[in-house]
Amino acid sequence: MRVANIVGARPNFMKMAPLIREMRRHPEIQASLIHTGQHYDEAMAGRFFQDLDLPKPDVSLEVGSGGHAYQTGEVMKRLDPVLGELQPHLVVVVGDVNSTLAGAITATKLGIPVAHVEAGLRSFDRSMPEEINRLLTDAISDYLFVTEESGRQNLLREGVDAGKIHMVGNVMIDSLEQCRRVWEQSDILARLGLARGDYGVVTLHRPSNVDDPATLRGLLKALAEISRRIPLVFPVHPRTQQRLESMEAGTELAGTGRLRYIAPLGYLDFIALVAGSRLALTDSGGLQEETTALGVPCLTLREQTERPITTTMGTNRVIGTSPDRIVTEAFQVLTAPAPAAPRPPLWDGRAAERIVAILSNAGNPGQSR
Ligand code: UD1
Repeated sequence: MRVANIVGARPNFMKMAPLIREMRRHPEIQASLIHTGQHYDEAMAGRFFQDLDLPKPDVSLEVGSGGHAYQTGEVMKRLDPVLGELQPHLVVVVGDVNSTLAGAITATKLGIPVAHVEAGLRSFDRSMPEEINRLLTDAISDYLFVTEESGRQNLLREGVDAGKIHMVGNVMIDSLEQCRRVWEQSDILARLGLARGDYGVVTLHRPSNVDDPATLRGLLKALAEISRRIPLVFPVHPRTQQRLESMEAGTELAGTGRLRYIAPLGYLDFIALVAGSRLALTDSGGLQEETTALGVPCLTLREQTERPITTTMGTNRVIGTSPDRIVTEAFQVLTAPAPAAPRPPLWDGRAAERIVAILSNAGNPGQSR
């Protein structure tokens, strides 16, 4: 069974790594890896291949940056002949980035079945580019692998056949557990001069938070205020870096040295940084899940989350973007005892095993069960 696996952007890599590893344990599966090149820098892509022990891509489409239509269209144009040549029996896409949608459409138009890993998540905010990618990818996928019960409910409400939906857990947590022994050895705290449990981690990159200077300025003011109580480390995404440079607020607000802007980190250093922190302030989807698994309090600076289980079972609180509220909530976290952190069902590091077993059985109906 030939399986073509597609990655494109930073949050794809930690989802794909455990799937590839698991596919290689199945001799009946011939797995190839296609990298669209949506992210291409060493810091946003290359480093993750090393950290996660991902094989070198069999095919690199080198699409690069651009608007949504450009990026999606260019992946489709370049992927189409590649799939034509590889003739896979199945295409696997992960997450919700432009490359996810482009991979799913291209395969579907060629009549190749598609598996979507991390299906069914919904923010119900169609101004988010990822929400459109999620809706469309799910509508045309044949296997929908969900991480939490809300995903199943959303898909059923959208009329998806229940037989296509598989609750398998979370491949992102597979990576976190599979790499635990390595990231526990990271010296990132020493390199940054941080004391375990005595700093916060910040990530911001959603267009809704960083593209509008007034919104970004408000968020940075709140962070500066919080940093008077606890030092904050902020690995800055390139999109955010560009916005900071254009409004010249970066250096101005980093002046105290307690709100520290650093270059983006690789996977292992970043997870070690989060694991050692007292709290995370973020607009990332993945980090809401990772903090839940690590038992680190997370404040999500957005109006909604597509990962509600991180708020009902996990350590996450979705608090919006009002600077006053962010400061109040952060101070509350700092005075409260560490939260209990039960793991959501099936977030046990074995999601890839379940997914590949389902795909393998489907590819070999005679051998199932
Ligand atoms: C993309 C995803 C988003 C994901 C995020 C994680 C979509 C619609 N968005 O957003 O869901 O959360 O990745 O990072 O797919 N750049 C570099 N180096 C790179 C890649 C990009 O410097 O390797 C710069 C470019 O100037 C680019 C900007 O970052 O214009 C934004 O990159 P882009 O891929 O367009 O969107 P992200 O904001 O990264």
